[in-house]
Order: sequence, then C-alpha cells, then structure tokens
Amino acid sequence: MLDPQSPQARAISDLFNSTMLLALGILALVTGLVVYAIFRFRHKPGQPDPTPVFGHLKLETAWTVGPLLIVGLLLGLVVFTVGEADPAGGENGNKQPDMIIVGHQWWWEIRYPQASVVTANEIHIPVGKSLYTRLESADVIHSFWVPQLSRKLDLTPGYPTYFYLQASRPGVYQGACAEYCGTEHAWMLLRVTAQTQGDYDAWLAGQSRPPAMPPPTAGQLGKGLQVFKEETCISCHALGQIGKHVGPDLSHVGSRNTLGAGILTNTPANLTKWLKDPQAVKPGILMPNVRLTDDEVQALVAYLEALK
Ligand code: CUA
Repeated sequence: MLDPQSPQARAISDLFNSTMLLALGILALVTGLVVYAIFRFRHKPGQPDPTPVFGHLKLETAWTVGPLLIVGLLLGLVVFTVGEADPAGGENGNKQPDMIIVGHQWWWEIRYPQASVVTANEIHIPVGKSLYTRLESADVIHSFWVPQLSRKLDLTPGYPTYFYLQASRPGVYQGACAEYCGTEHAWMLLRVTAQTQGDYDAWLAGQSRPPAMPPPTAGQLGKGLQVFKEETCISCHALGQIGKHVGPDLSHVGSRNTLGAGILTNTPANLTKWLKDPQAVKPGILMPNVRLTDDEVQALVAYLEALK
C-alpha cells in the first residue's frame, strides 16, 4: 500500500498521503493555537475574568465555511480516486475477461480463458498491460487483495465483479484473502508475478501445453500418473483433459512455487509431507488424507514435480 506499483494502487496511495498531510496540517494548527492560548491568555493574579463573546458573525461564518471547504475537498479527492482506482466500474458490456479469479476455501483458481490455461494461487501478468479480470467465488465471500497493485475486491458468490489488474514494474507481488472465510483464511495467500511480455508469453505457452502422460511402464513417472488416476486424486484435481476442477488444477503444478495456497514452498520434501497428510499441514481443508503408501507418495511426488 505504501509502495504502489500500479496506477490504481498509486491513486489510493496518493489519497492516503494527501488526506494524511491535510490532517497533519489541521493537527499542527489546532495544537499551535491551543499552546499559544495557554501562554498568551494565562490567568494572572488579581486579573478579572475575561468578557465572553456572543454572536460573532465573522468568526462563526469562518468556522462553518472552513470545515465545509475541507470536507468538500476530501469528498472531491475520494470521488476522483474511486474513478482512478477502479477503471472497470463494473461489467464492461460484452467484453470477455482476460483472466478469471475464483475464490475457494482456501485457495485461488486462476483461469486464462483465451489460452485455456487453469492454474492456482500464482498469477502471471505481462508488465504494463492491464488484464480485464473477473472475480467469482465458489463458496463464501473472499476478498482479493494485492496491496501494491489493487484495492480490496470482494469475491461474492453468484455475483461476479470486474476490475483491471496491472503492474507497472516487473516483480513478484504478495497478496492475500482479506475477508475472513473460515478456518484457513490466513493461508489463502496468492502472488502476482509481473513479467516482460516475452516471458509472460513463454509462461502462458508452457501452461497451455497438455501435461505429460507417461505410460504405466515408464518407471516412477508412469506409476505416479497411475496413482493419480486410481487413488482418488482424479476425483477432485484436473490434469489437462482428465479429472475435475474441484481442487487446484495440477497440469503444471511442478512449475508453481508454493503448495496449499502459500503454506509450503513447492519442494519434493514438502510435497511428500503434504500428500502423506494434508490435514496435518493445513487442518480443515477439503483434501482428505487418502492414506497413500510411501511408495505411492514417492511416485506421485516424482510425477507431479515433473509437471513443469
Ligand atoms: Cu478467502 Cu479469507
């Protein structure tokens, strides 16, 4: 919030700074007058009480008009900022979104409909471009917040909203769910990677490739895919055309940096821990402990980590 990296976040930051400056100015003025009055009009021994003033028209006009002007100025700044910070202003006719973000308990589904790419928790955008984005929720109210890029935007079930996501500089921007949505609300993190158009195109092309599907005879990887198909993973997770989109799409899970919406970094050791007992890592999530054997976990980890 204090280091804005998009025009929208800049507008919000400017409003914060100007309001703060104005408030500090008023604080200094009032404090100054009080201190001045304490010393200048101090009661001296033998001095009579001062005569009270009644009905001073000029003074009363000044202290009515002054604050009105200040409030009017603040209102103007707020109205201007709302326009700057939210250029989408609701649904934009029939324009197709570049990206769809769906909030789930407790992770983020990210879809790029034009490229048929589905991923989770890690958003990639080309730097300097603004992506027209639709926000939806699959269950309860969540709130999308990447402080350096956007205001907080609620994801309301049954009521999609739209905004423009953009970043002025390349980098990785941390975000989170900003609306309490259940037990693991705190572990509903997300990150936005803003990259050059070339890097972004390469990433998108990689994500839109079908995932590798080795035959069961192909060693660990083949066995991993078999475990995925036979041990219920497939009932909730998708791999390219197979499986379901109940949990995160795993077509290119090996290319992601985190697991469980930011609770673990994506390493083979952490993925092993996760697959052995997801409930121990993130209690309350929908993914059950399916009691895989150590061999099955090993094969699954090898396969999933290879899905770059
Ligand atoms: Cu989703 Cu809090």
